[in-house]
Amino acid sequence: MSEAKNVFRPANLQTSSLASCQVCHHTVPNRQQLILGSKAEFIMATHKLFLLPGDGIGPEVMGEVRRVIQWFQDKNIASFKLDEGLVGGAAYDAHGESISDADMAKAMAADAIIFGAVGGSKWDTVPYDKRPEAGLLRLRKDLALYANLRPAIVYPALADASSLKRELVDGLDILILRELTGGVYFGEPKEITELGNGQKRAVDTQVYESYEIDRISRVAFELARTRNNAVCSMEKRNVMKSGVLWNEIVTQTHKDGFEDVKLSHMLADAGAMQLVRTPKQFDVILTDNLFGDILSDVAAMLTGSLGMLPSASLGAIGEKTGLRKALYEPVHGSAPDIAGQGMANPIAMIASFAMCLRYSLGMGEWAGKIETAIALTLDQGLRTSDIMQDGMKKIGTTQMGDAILAELDALA
Ligand code: IPM
Ligand code: MG
Repeated sequence: MSEAKNVFRPANLQTSSLASCQVCHHTVPNRQQLILGSKAEFIMATHKLFLLPGDGIGPEVMGEVRRVIQWFQDKNIASFKLDEGLVGGAAYDAHGESISDADMAKAMAADAIIFGAVGGSKWDTVPYDKRPEAGLLRLRKDLALYANLRPAIVYPALADASSLKRELVDGLDILILRELTGGVYFGEPKEITELGNGQKRAVDTQVYESYEIDRISRVAFELARTRNNAVCSMEKRNVMKSGVLWNEIVTQTHKDGFEDVKLSHMLADAGAMQLVRTPKQFDVILTDNLFGDILSDVAAMLTGSLGMLPSASLGAIGEKTGLRKALYEPVHGSAPDIAGQGMANPIAMIASFAMCLRYSLGMGEWAGKIETAIALTLDQGLRTSDIMQDGMKKIGTTQMGDAILAELDALA
């Protein structure tokens, strides 16, 4: 089976039936099932998860995911083997690198990586190649996690928390698909040189090769087919050669078996404007690494808070292992200003774990239940401070975890 045909299903898992996600109503793969003779039995595989909490609020929100994982184990729904490593500033403080080779090896060997957040002003002065973000970029690059899925869904209870009017965002369900291993993030040269006259010159290089644009386009079209069947590709072909090529390859790949999907193109600046003008016009937004970084922060705010947005970073399926490398992380950063106070919103982190269940572990049905539990918790009027509204009850990180677990219990 080609890589493109297999975007949503871990290759080693047999998807025996399909279910609908209870929040977004997308079709998602069900639990792995093995037919033994006439008897249907579930395999209780042990999933190897590598946890990288990182810096700032990372460890706090990761703590809530640990409890969700424990819940699945206690209920005998799934079995996990957990290992934990250091990344970002925490890794730098421990061994002078933003991620050690030993932890990279563990990340390579895991079924999935669950990542918290990195960064903080404490490490502002460390050498550039050792800064906290370098650890995350190394994971993305070395594991070839080229497809970054950033769904922006407005939970009904939060439509008033958005900075846009309720009618513009109510029911919003869009997916930003960001290319994650190319473009200006990794292009060479990337340097600052002394010009000898007291001046310096800084260069970053935006590079895309056709195969990189082709493979991310295939993911976009495949994903669109499970949603509302529309892809809007965003680039800057009016000023950038990489934008010209991006546009050309997306159009060409579309003709190669994806013509049933509606494709449109927008200049990225106009796209940003449209995203805050009429966000519901979009289904899947396909874009490069840098524009995707910016547009996904914009999309995050439409949902009320950065603390709500999960993400999945997926690689190709390994030919030998049949497994897709994958990393799951909240879109929000390490928020050092509120770290250690027990007030961070764990929803994006827990929702990222739900994406792990869906995209890596063949447990889409349980992913849907976690998403429903989050929606029901918000319906109760419970809010962390980032999404606090008049008349609601303000709670902390652990209490939010408690409430989501209680709803999950009721759904199980
Ligand atoms: C993101 C972050 C990262 C990025 C940083 C932490 C390097 O902003 O995942 O959106 O720029 O990709
Ligand atoms: Mg970002």
